[in-house]
Amino acid sequence: MSELVIYGSYGYTGSLVAETAVERGLDPILVGRDAEKVTDQADELGVRARVASLDTVADRIGDAHTVLNCAGPFSETAEPMVDACLEVGANYLDITGEIQVFERLKRRSDEAEEASVTLLPGVGFDVVPTDCLAAHLAERLPEATHLALGFDTSGSLSTGTLKTAIEGLGEGGAIREDGRLHQVPSGWKTREIDFGRGWRTAVTIPWGDVSTAYTTTGIPNVEVYSTFPESTRRTMKLQRYLAPLLDTKRAKRLLKRLADRYAENPSAEERADATVYVWGEATAEDGERVVSRLRTPHAYALTAETAVLCTEKTLDDDAPTGYQTPASAFGADLILEVPGVERTDEDVRAEDGDIRAENE
Ligand SMILES: NC(=O)c1ccc[n+]([C@@H]2O[C@H](COP(=O)([O-])OP(=O)(O)OC[C@H]3O[C@@H](n4cnc5c(N)ncnc54)[C@H](OP(=O)(O)O)[C@@H]3O)[C@@H](O)[C@H]2O)c1
Repeated sequence: MSELVIYGSYGYTGSLVAETAVERGLDPILVGRDAEKVTDQADELGVRARVASLDTVADRIGDAHTVLNCAGPFSETAEPMVDACLEVGANYLDITGEIQVFERLKRRSDEAEEASVTLLPGVGFDVVPTDCLAAHLAERLPEATHLALGFDTSGSLSTGTLKTAIEGLGEGGAIREDGRLHQVPSGWKTREIDFGRGWRTAVTIPWGDVSTAYTTTGIPNVEVYSTFPESTRRTMKLQRYLAPLLDTKRAKRLLKRLADRYAENPSAEERADATVYVWGEATAEDGERVVSRLRTPHAYALTAETAVLCTEKTLDDDAPTGYQTPASAFGADLILEVPGVERTDEDVRAEDGDIRAENE
């Protein structure tokens, strides 16, 4: 039987994923380290539960066909879970957006191939829509050398996402340049972008596509942008000077405690109402440029949808073995299978061609 294990299923996002999986007729085994939380959740959803920490998980998932890891930060959980998956021969999926996690798992592709296992991190909002858009743009302009991706959302972040971001504090920003990952200051480049609802100010962020878009498309220069209110953009720049203070275990512990106390997860109403605007642009050496856009549901609602969609396809043995990105595994049109997602293409004329970006 093709058993599905969801690990970290009782977290905010894991709960949305587990509910969506059950709604879609899957019969997952929920696994986590807190016995009470995982059994209560499984009883409520009418599915099976098992208790396991990362140290013991290999002994508890021997029957798994596919494991969907929702326990983050993935800098802590991905490698131990991949070890367990390789040991038992199960496919591994997760919802990370952490650049270094993608890079580390990519280096394990041969190991996964030998074990006939798929390693497919990033099946959430970060990176499914942008990865699919990157693949689509590369199909539209095969000679592209530069890729810019971005999103415009007014939605709030979950406590777990905030804590994962705190874990990365001090690392600054990241882009890909000439095929190599390149560290840049936080909020490094500012650009005016029309995400599909007028011009907005956006800044570069260290988003997962800086790793994955290169794997998917081979385009050697990648930047990812997001809109932020002016006050947040100023704080991002301030971070450059505070980085040495923030990059300590003590400061991160304190900030995570504050996140636990004061941050609130996005409500069901917020998830139901929001639209996210995703934009991508590929540019060739001769200046030719193509732009495509997506409109998607709220980032966390979309994460539950894309995570379960990629899991269903993996359970159906549709995913190639070895390290994969969402679009390398399932193609550029994967995102169009999610209800409520629309894609539009724009042909950019030379006279439209002012790219209003500046380094700060
Ligand atoms: N790619 C995307 O678009 C996307 C979207 C949503 C979320 N995420 C990421 O997903 C992660 C979870 O987010 P969330 O909002 O669900 O956070 P959350 O509510 O804090 O849930 C975190 C879950 O992970 C478990 N966990 C954490 N560290 C663990 C460890 N060392 N061993 C075992 N279990 C561990 C927690 O279990 P305990 O309660 O037992 O600690 C909990 O079940 C974050 O890293 C977030 O950035 C990514």
